[in-house]
Amino acid sequence: MSTDSIGGQALRSRQATFVGRGVELDLFRATLDDALGGRGTTVFLEGEPGIGKTRLANEFAGLATSAGALDIRVRSEASMAAVPYLSLRQAFRRAEPKLERRVAEVASAAELAAVVSVIPDLTRFHPNESARAGDAGFVRDAFASLVARLSEDVPILLWFDDLHWCDRETIALVPSLGRAIRTARCIVLGTYRDDALGLEHPLPSVLHEMNRARTATRLHLTTLTPEETDELVQQMLPPPLASNFAAQYTSVRMAIPSS
Ligand SMILES: Nc1ncnc2c1ncn2[C@@H]1O[C@H](COP(=O)(O)OP(=O)(O)OP(=O)(O)O)[C@@H](O)[C@H]1O
Ligand SMILES: [Mg+2]
Repeated sequence: MSTDSIGGQALRSRQATFVGRGVELDLFRATLDDALGGRGTTVFLEGEPGIGKTRLANEFAGLATSAGALDIRVRSEASMAAVPYLSLRQAFRRAEPKLERRVAEVASAAELAAVVSVIPDLTRFHPNESARAGDAGFVRDAFASLVARLSEDVPILLWFDDLHWCDRETIALVPSLGRAIRTARCIVLGTYRDDALGLEHPLPSVLHEMNRARTATRLHLTTLTPEETDELVQQMLPPPLASNFAAQYTSVRMAIPSS
């Protein structure tokens, strides 16, 4: 069977029009207004695989870029977790080409020496090869304050998709970013599967720390409402399958006793 058909019936579209999530979108609009006014924050989107984290984050990014923000998207994969800052580096390389030059302009020599260990591409702007990078805390704070300063030129959405797969070093950057952007035109957005955070995972302590410092908002995504699910099904499936699905879905729901 082709991936574009079910039971011989062609699927209507691969990507349905976005539905629902009105509460989260309203919250993000308010967050974006604050950030554009120089009060940045961090937003986490958590939920089970496939619940719609990336799709919603994509809607957030659309709102941010429509408001003139630069979207720096850090995409992680399980295979990248062993290499410090790899996905972050790739994101900076993909982003606005002028960004690296601007980093070099606004950073002090000590900050540049530190930030080079996060983004080695900046080495060409780094005049003093022998300058020491500083300890890990200094590197994190230097990177975070640079992101905050860059957002003076253009608002920034720094989006980490699939944070649960990010390397430890990148995850450790997030609280520093959260502190630095409180007075910046920047939003840090992180999505993660909350069922993927085992005992050894570094993310829960970061979430705890940022929760205590009140530098982050955590949004837990649950399933779409039955009406929204129905809307999605109508878009995705050809009519006979869609009505069949909706009828069966309704009868299953009616058979589940409400608590
Ligand atoms: N609100 C929505 N409106 C329309 N389509 C949606 C919506 N939410 C999710 N989808 C669709 O459902 C599928 C899964 O969504 P998505 O990839 O965002 O899930 P995810 O939570 O990021 O999953 P993962 O944990 O695997 O990264 C995608 O095809 C996406 O386009
Ligand atoms: Mg996703």
